[in-house]
Amino acid sequence: MAILVTGGAGYIGSHTVVELLNTGKEVVIIDDFSNSKQEVLNAIREITKKDFKFYEINYLNREALEKVFEENKIEAVMNFAGFKAVGESIKKPIEYYTNNVSGALVLLDTMRKYGVKTFVFSSSATVYGDPEKIPITEECKTGETTNPYGTSKLFIEQILKDLYVSDNSWNICILRYFNPVGAHESGLIGEEPQGIPNNLMPYVVRVAAGTLKELSVFGNDYNTPDGTGVRDYIHVVDLAKGHIKALEKLEREQKGLYIYNLGTGNGYSVLDMVKAFEKTTGKSVAYKITERRQGDIATCYADPTKAKQELGWEAKLGIEEMCRDSWNYIERHK
Ligand code: UFG
Repeated sequence: MAILVTGGAGYIGSHTVVELLNTGKEVVIIDDFSNSKQEVLNAIREITKKDFKFYEINYLNREALEKVFEENKIEAVMNFAGFKAVGESIKKPIEYYTNNVSGALVLLDTMRKYGVKTFVFSSSATVYGDPEKIPITEECKTGETTNPYGTSKLFIEQILKDLYVSDNSWNICILRYFNPVGAHESGLIGEEPQGIPNNLMPYVVRVAAGTLKELSVFGNDYNTPDGTGVRDYIHVVDLAKGHIKALEKLEREQKGLYIYNLGTGNGYSVLDMVKAFEKTTGKSVAYKITERRQGDIATCYADPTKAKQELGWEAKLGIEEMCRDSWNYIERHK
């Protein structure tokens, strides 16, 4: 029996595949390389010394997807496929809703056809909109997302809830990620955004590496200790391990719908991150304060208690490991 990982060559998908293989799981990956590279597959093999099956397909291609289910005994699906750039989603809503929402629907429908009902879904803290309280618990209200990317996550969560109501033999875990950063300690896999990065950490490492001139800090007049935005940065390897714990939970329960925040519970500001990066790597990061970025909120960090209690998972790696490993990856891939 195998775990099907959609988007398994991507940033979070590839780190999760490593953890799955390390725990002895059989893995089948599908990826269309729309935001990932083929080399990642060999890097996963190099890290784990294990192999997996791979299909270069888009999950909207129902016929190709059915072939994957025909040719393999799939026990569960982890869905990392999807577009994720907030700014781009505002310009391309049809592409985002088609790929993320319609893709998820084709995937779920195919799972149903083949009697596979165990599903782990990559959601995002973005579903909380401007959070009603900090730290954010899973009970906080969701909605009022500010861009099609976030709304696509919200829609898929709703689809999963409705699906479970319609047939409670489904076994679903929704994981709401906070801000994933870092890379595998080998430096062989990591985050490779196309073009100029939107997210803080990929931007910081490129300024330190000299490929970008300076970081724009988007506003220093927020109601936070130093005025810059506060987020819950989580090491991608911790995040990947959270998926293993989620899968174990589903294996124990056999049915149900579960929702967990995957965050550290610590909030760091933009300037905290810049200072931590400089201290850990010895590199300097030039920055200037600019206007606020539209759609940004002041503070967002998780209450990760539920995941600790019910999954036995908590983030172990700190801000230094996050900075060290992000830098290590870039050094190896300059
Ligand atoms: N920031 C800067 N300069 C930059 C980039 C970011 O100052 O060049 C600041 C932002 O204003 C924010 C913080 O750094 O205060 C983090 O910004 P990111 O873009 O790295 O992350 P966001 O919190 O905006 O978004 C992330 C993910 C989304 C997800 C969201 C909510 O990128 O996919 O968290 O969970 F939806």
